[in-house]
Amino acid sequence: MTELRLTAPLSWLDGVDPRTGRITQPDHPQRGESIAGRILRLPGSVGSTVGAYTFFKLRRMGTAPSAIVLERPDSITVSAEMAGIPVKVLGAQTNPELDLEGVPDRVRRFLEREASASGAEEFARVRSVHISGISYWTIGEAGLDFLEGMAREASFRVPATLNPAGMDLSRWADMGVPEGFAERQLRIVEALVRMGAIPTLTCTPYLAGNLPRFGEHVCWGESSAVAFANSVLGARTNREGGVKAVAAAVAGVTPLYGLHLRENRSPDLEVEATARVSGRTRFSELGYLVGSLSPSAVPVYRGLGSPSADELKSLGAGGAASGGISIFHVPGVTPESPRPREGADRVTVVDDDLDDVEESLSTTGSEPDLVAIGCPHLSPLEILEVATLLEGRRAAVPFWLFTSRAARAQLPNWVEPALRRAGADLFVDTCMVVAPLREAGHRVVATDSAKAAKYLRTLGGLEVVLAPLDRLISEYTSPA
Ligand code: FES
Repeated sequence: MTELRLTAPLSWLDGVDPRTGRITQPDHPQRGESIAGRILRLPGSVGSTVGAYTFFKLRRMGTAPSAIVLERPDSITVSAEMAGIPVKVLGAQTNPELDLEGVPDRVRRFLEREASASGAEEFARVRSVHISGISYWTIGEAGLDFLEGMAREASFRVPATLNPAGMDLSRWADMGVPEGFAERQLRIVEALVRMGAIPTLTCTPYLAGNLPRFGEHVCWGESSAVAFANSVLGARTNREGGVKAVAAAVAGVTPLYGLHLRENRSPDLEVEATARVSGRTRFSELGYLVGSLSPSAVPVYRGLGSPSADELKSLGAGGAASGGISIFHVPGVTPESPRPREGADRVTVVDDDLDDVEESLSTTGSEPDLVAIGCPHLSPLEILEVATLLEGRRAAVPFWLFTSRAARAQLPNWVEPALRRAGADLFVDTCMVVAPLREAGHRVVATDSAKAAKYLRTLGGLEVVLAPLDRLISEYTSPA
């Protein structure tokens, strides 16, 4: 059995092809190498928390590594244990036991394994769980099997909310989603609801009733929500894989390590922004840049003024998409803003750096066949902004907005008719990244989010145009 040693973290969701076991992550130094049947040693993972389901796909297709050696604890990669792939974390050696009535054995063993692999000495009770990996597009048949199996043997002990699904549960036909996909997608949601989940179907659970307090321990998947919970709310969570979040919802506890501990939350990277950073797109590009430069950093950002909650949401989503950034600080804005650690690195970001990100994430100059806004999901204020900018205009191509049911319920009455008049469509429960857009016939998608731009290309196989909202509106709509 040969060892394959990776020199950079891997994005499990879109960096490995489960059909071949080969690394496909653009720019990865070991791109093209096969992990199938090998002992895989890696420094950790980056990107989406949904990647945990890739282990089930690899097993199903016979392309899984024979074992994984992790250089530092990483909950998403440790989830490979649930799929039967042994994981060892270098240097970790505790052995805490989880003594809970009624928790299925495989869940208990997995959490104990994660605890010992991460050096945790005890477990923390969590107040809520947020589960990623809901879309049939991302978790596939292997994920559906896992969730239906869990629903037969377990139920949730703590409030658990859900990430977006692969379609609007009521209007999937309007999105061009095939019937077979819809049937399986509904089964995934049904299995989770049977276990006790609240079907919020959004990556902004904090806008849908799951709002942790400062200092509270939670267990959240969905990397953009993790960054928001840690950074903006001051709650404590690691970047949890979808599989792990299900296990934590069943047990009501999580091993106490990583960002649950105060000492790991201090900045080790100072980012000085001399660039003019304003609006959703720029903030997402800044996060994306820092995540690519330093995937596991705890950055403190200076020079940003007073960003809005929506801008902070985009900043976190960008850093979590290109890297694994799970907490950041903005002095005077986010609640912790602790002092940087001794020897913290420094980086300065200028306008050209952000222009470069925009250029590198735009893969084509062709006209889009779809404009898609809302990954992360739009807040009510952001939808109002789009509706106002679209007044008196008419979309030249399908123009889709994505949000949660909770956010849509807060909209004033005039908004949805105004969007329809402009030829725009508001969908809930899903977004362009986790919906099967290619199957629905799309090839070129324009968006205003760095996170969406990355995954539309690597996961969706689509050409992408990345530009701020005002440019998308001026280029792809015309006066009505
Ligand atoms: Fe959150 Fe796309 S994953 S909306």
